[in-house]
Amino acid sequence: MSILITGGAGYIGSHTCVELIEAGKDIVVIDNYSNSCSESLERVKKITGKDFRYYECDIRDREGLEKVFAENEIEAVIHFAGLKAVGESCQKPWEYYDNNIAGTLVLVDVMRKNGCKKMVFSSSATVYGEENQVPFVETMKTGTTTNPYGTTKLYIENILKDIYNADNEWSIVLLRYFNPVGAHESGLIGEAPSFPNNLMPYVSQVAVGKREFLSIFGDCYNTPDGTGVRDYIHVVDLALGHVKAIDFALPRTGVEIFNLGTGNGVSVIGLVKAFEEANNVSVPYKIVEPRAGDVAYSYANAQKALEILGWKAERDVKKMCEDTWRWQKNNPNGYAN
Ligand code: NAD
Ligand code: WQD
Repeated sequence: MSILITGGAGYIGSHTCVELIEAGKDIVVIDNYSNSCSESLERVKKITGKDFRYYECDIRDREGLEKVFAENEIEAVIHFAGLKAVGESCQKPWEYYDNNIAGTLVLVDVMRKNGCKKMVFSSSATVYGEENQVPFVETMKTGTTTNPYGTTKLYIENILKDIYNADNEWSIVLLRYFNPVGAHESGLIGEAPSFPNNLMPYVSQVAVGKREFLSIFGDCYNTPDGTGVRDYIHVVDLALGHVKAIDFALPRTGVEIFNLGTGNGVSVIGLVKAFEEANNVSVPYKIVEPRAGDVAYSYANAQKALEILGWKAERDVKKMCEDTWRWQKNNPNGYAN
């Protein structure tokens, strides 16, 4: 029996493939390579020394999915596939709703027709919205999302809850990630955005000399140094959280939500300083206008994952910075070389 990983060639997916294989699981990957390439999967094979099947397949492609289910015995799905750029989602809402929501509907339909009713889904801390106060707890009511990307995550959570309510044979785990950063210690896989969306890729591109300076979006938030505070989590810790989540989902039915964060907040300037110190590099920055939709604080209450999954983030901010830098230095053009 295998676990199907949708979007497995991507940033979090590729790291999760490594940890699943290291934990002795059989995996099959699908990806349409809209934001990745198969080289990341070849590197997963290199890191683990294990072979596995991967397919170029879109989650909206019913026939393609049927073929994957026919050729493999899939017992559960870890569903990463999706578009994730907040700004782009405001320009292309239709594409985001189609890819993320319509795609999930096709996937769920093919799963149930094949008797596979276990899914771990990549949700986001963005579903807490602007109304809730930190630390965010799973029991809080979800908030108002500020962009179509966030709305797709909220809708998919609700869709999956309804799917379970109508058919109690499903086992669904919704993982709300905070801010994933870092890379595998080998320096072979990491985040390779064609255009960065998040803070850490900008920081490392400034450090490597690809950009002149970092623009910090506002220093007048009600935080200790005025810059936004986030819960950065090492991608390998996040990946290990998926191994725990799949082991939790397999023998059960139900819907369960877990925050995957460290529970610690770090400011933008705090992350820049940590990166400079960890790697002995300089990251010049300029303070610019705040970015629309940003909140002052976002960090997790990470207790539930500890108590129920036995999972806790172990890697500190220094390690996040060191591993990001190793990946960036070894692969200045991502997987392109
Ligand atoms: P990523 O873009 O690196 O990975 C997503 C993968 O899905 C890519 O390889 C892409 O090619 C693939 N994909 C997209 N649409 C597809 C489709 N229709 N069919 C098949 N494959 C498709 O992003 P990531 O950072 O690894 O994120 C993985 C998941 O986690 C996403 O669902 C994302 O929304 C969610 N998430 C990410 C973050 C973050 O900050 N990185 C935070 C919270 C949640
Ligand atoms: C972090 C901090 C910025 C870039 C987003 C999504 C969220 C989730 C994770 C997917 C903020 C500041 C950033 C820059 C800066 N993704 N910043 N200069 O906004 O917390 O969360 O990614 O689900 O849904 O909204 O992450 O990395 O963009 O920003 O000053 O060039 O860095 O203002 O305080 P964010 P981020």
